[in-house]
Amino acid sequence: MSKVAILIGSVRPNRRSMQVAKWLQGQLTQVGSVQYDLIDLKYVNLPMMNEPNVPFTGIYTHEATKQWSQLIQGYDGFVFLFPQYNGGYPAVIKNAIDYLAKEWTDKPVSMVTFGAHGGNLGQTAMRSVITTLRMKQMSVNLQISIMPDDSTEKADEILHGYNFNANLLGQEFAKKLN
Ligand SMILES: Cc1cc2nc3c(=O)[nH]c(=O)nc-3n(C[C@H](O)[C@H](O)[C@H](O)COP(=O)(O)O)c2cc1C
Repeated sequence: MSKVAILIGSVRPNRRSMQVAKWLQGQLTQVGSVQYDLIDLKYVNLPMMNEPNVPFTGIYTHEATKQWSQLIQGYDGFVFLFPQYNGGYPAVIKNAIDYLAKEWTDKPVSMVTFGAHGGNLGQTAMRSVITTLRMKQMSVNLQISIMPDDSTEKADEILHGYNFNANLLGQEFAKKLN
């Protein structure tokens, strides 16, 4: 079965991203025919980029990078799930992406963002990164409008309103990867 990793792209205490990621994994899994795993960058725990060679050489010196490379090589596609931070993306997800190169190339990727206005500026910023890495951007990308002070219950209600879009994303992955 093809495997898609949902990269959880924020790591601060009390983050919203975990709630969004679990909801998305549930919705995508319901569509079926693809396995969806969560990768929590909080526990991948990469330091700020410390490799002496540029990543496209594929020459990695640190054990953490080699393990990260192995993990990412095992996936056929990705969801980059992250909140908008100051009109862009959180540093932690950029750092994790920057560690590798060919591991991302040619693989399908969807962006699922959230913020007061759905994280549209974060998606615009990330699009330039995924294009440079020659990833294949999916047609379905979600922009979820959640306010920072919305309660967990309110956020659940809001997420429920995006079930249809998540289902479309699951169908697109199923079609592309099978
Ligand atoms: C450092 C920081 C910057 C933010 N910048 C924006 C922003 O530019 N636009 C926006 O709509 N929300 C912004 N927010 C609100 C976040 O999108 C919202 O709090 C979201 O829940 C953060 O995700 P997290 O809880 O997983 O860290 C920002 C939040 C933080 C912590």
